[in-house]
Amino acid sequence: MHLIFLLFIATFCSAAVLQLPTKSTGSLRAKLIQSGKYPEFLASQHVSRLNSGALPLADYMDEIYTANITVGTPPQSASVVMGTGSANFWVVGAGCTSPACNGFPDSGHTKLKFYSNKSSSFVDLNRKFFINYPTGACSGYLGTDVLQLGGLTVKNQEFAVTTQISDQMGHFPLDGVLGLAWPPVAVDQITPPMQNLMPQLDAPIFTLWLDRVLQGSQGGSGGLITFGAIDTKNCDAQVNYVALSSKTFWQFPLDGVAIGSYTSMKKDQAISDSGDFGLRLPLAVLNAVIQQTKATYDWTNEFYTLDCSTMQTQPDLVFTIGGMQYPVKSVEYILDLGLGNGRCVLAMFTDSSTGFGPSFGFGNVFLRQYCNIFDVGNARIGFAIAHHSF
Ligand SMILES: *[C@@H]1O[C@H](CO)[C@@H](O)[C@H](O)[C@H]1NC(C)=O
Ligand SMILES: *[C@@H]1O[C@H](CO)[C@@H](O)[C@H](O)[C@H]1NC(C)=O
Repeated sequence: MHLIFLLFIATFCSAAVLQLPTKSTGSLRAKLIQSGKYPEFLASQHVSRLNSGALPLADYMDEIYTANITVGTPPQSASVVMGTGSANFWVVGAGCTSPACNGFPDSGHTKLKFYSNKSSSFVDLNRKFFINYPTGACSGYLGTDVLQLGGLTVKNQEFAVTTQISDQMGHFPLDGVLGLAWPPVAVDQITPPMQNLMPQLDAPIFTLWLDRVLQGSQGGSGGLITFGAIDTKNCDAQVNYVALSSKTFWQFPLDGVAIGSYTSMKKDQAISDSGDFGLRLPLAVLNAVIQQTKATYDWTNEFYTLDCSTMQTQPDLVFTIGGMQYPVKSVEYILDLGLGNGRCVLAMFTDSSTGFGPSFGFGNVFLRQYCNIFDVGNARIGFAIAHHSF
């Protein structure tokens, strides 16, 4: 009786639990390899990567998950990356007219642009915006407007309308980026959407679940962001939490890492980054993985490859976090990007820029295997085994 009454209260007096589907874009590299445009793309990356900067979001961006949101009155749609490795929200503006702003043909997407002059609720803050990702810069101007996502509404969300974006953003089917990290990470001190959304929710948390990708280039398979609750349908009931070591990125301590006969119990720091496709590792750990899996470097395509036939049989890469072990299976960390020579790709890399931030970055490879529960209220992150339909 009491329980039923409490459930009744919880259902009717609470704020909200809302869900927003996400969609995988598929691997950019796989698409470029298949269309023979990869060497050209690599050459362009060498130029823009010299402009190396602060945020790990777009580092080695390859496959991303986007979600649909709207901005303005009446609402204008945009498909944005929901990235936990950055904290700024921006959309491509109508004044952005370069080829990247329209979307390169290989992205298979004509960018939806935001017309601030068509929104009755847009307020121009008369301030310039500039963000420098490792893959290039984006710039524009700042304003506030109504943001709607997953049935939630933020009336006065600060955001940027870009008038210039990096080439890499033009290769992706995205109209913007919505960062879900903490306020200190946001450039220009603008309040990230997360801070404005949390008060509306049952609980100040969100869960990210990413579904599997069958074939590298395809994409299309989805994921789900649940605001205000743990996603109990797609994630295991057992959630292990670890306190954040910093309320900047979703940063937490790492107790150790092991693969095959290699073990390192060196304490380190890691971040969860849903804007990143793979696993970012310190050089020593990457070298250990290469040794244990016998991966070899492909000088043409500039990544480590191994025989696709070993996809199921390579040793687990095991992370120890908060005293718990999290094995990442080789079927997750080896990707088939359709190289056509029986070789598959190791979805790991090391950060060549020296010494900035935590040395481990857990991107989609990790997220597909473990739901991440971003507990804003308690400043902690939880991990639970992700369920998949295949
Ligand atoms: C976003 O909207 C487009 C156009 O309506 C649709 O094709 C796409 O599937 C949507 N994406 C998601 C993740 O819901
Ligand atoms: C709105 O902005 C766009 C892009 O800057 C411009 O082309 C258009 O003429 C503007 N419309 C009005 C009504 O001012």
